[in-house]
Amino acid sequence: MSRLSPAGRKALLTVHLVTSLGWLGADLVLLTLGVAGLRGADPAVVYPTAGLLVTYLFAPLSLVVWLLGLASALLSPWGLLRWRWVLVKFAITTVMLGLVNLALLPRVRELGALAGDASMHLRADLVIAPAVSSTLLVTVTVLSTYKPWGRLRRAAAPVARRAVPARPGA
Ligand code: HEM
Repeated sequence: MSRLSPAGRKALLTVHLVTSLGWLGADLVLLTLGVAGLRGADPAVVYPTAGLLVTYLFAPLSLVVWLLGLASALLSPWGLLRWRWVLVKFAITTVMLGLVNLALLPRVRELGALAGDASMHLRADLVIAPAVSSTLLVTVTVLSTYKPWGRLRRAAAPVARRAVPARPGA
């Protein structure tokens, strides 16, 4: 896979950070709306707002973050299958991409349509799901900065070892 110039890599890292941490921010807003709904805020305001937020920002960002994360791995010396922290991030983000689009999006749209008629169970979903996903995104952020657990496998040939720095970007 071709690599980027240092300027290109910085630009990609910048959009990766803005979108992924923006995704975490949107997740925390959803959690706030969910808590407000359970604490008695007007359901005709809170739940349609949550529906709009998930439809136009949170769910689209899940795909953007996944794609830019994948590009950040494949177009940098880190690679996708070399370092455990990168692979675990990819796995967590992939699971989240599926859950957000297949489970959360339809539930929150339903909640937005029902508003004041929504069941307690459906209202609680808007607290539990963003609480779990925000925790996962904070975990992914910590993995990104601490980069734990080392390599998945050693490069086989000495040539390959020279081509890939021991710890890219460190
Ligand atoms: C498909 C999923 C993801 C993959 C494969 C991925 C991969 C990567 C890679 C390879 C880097 C290093 C880029 C470079 O040095 O040029 C990086 C940096 C970073 N990523 Fe991700 N990422 C993903 C998702 C996320 C998410 C969801 C978050 C946070 C919510 C996140 C937060 C960060 C942060 C904070 C850094 C900067 C680390 C540093 O420079 O020390 N990433 N990511």
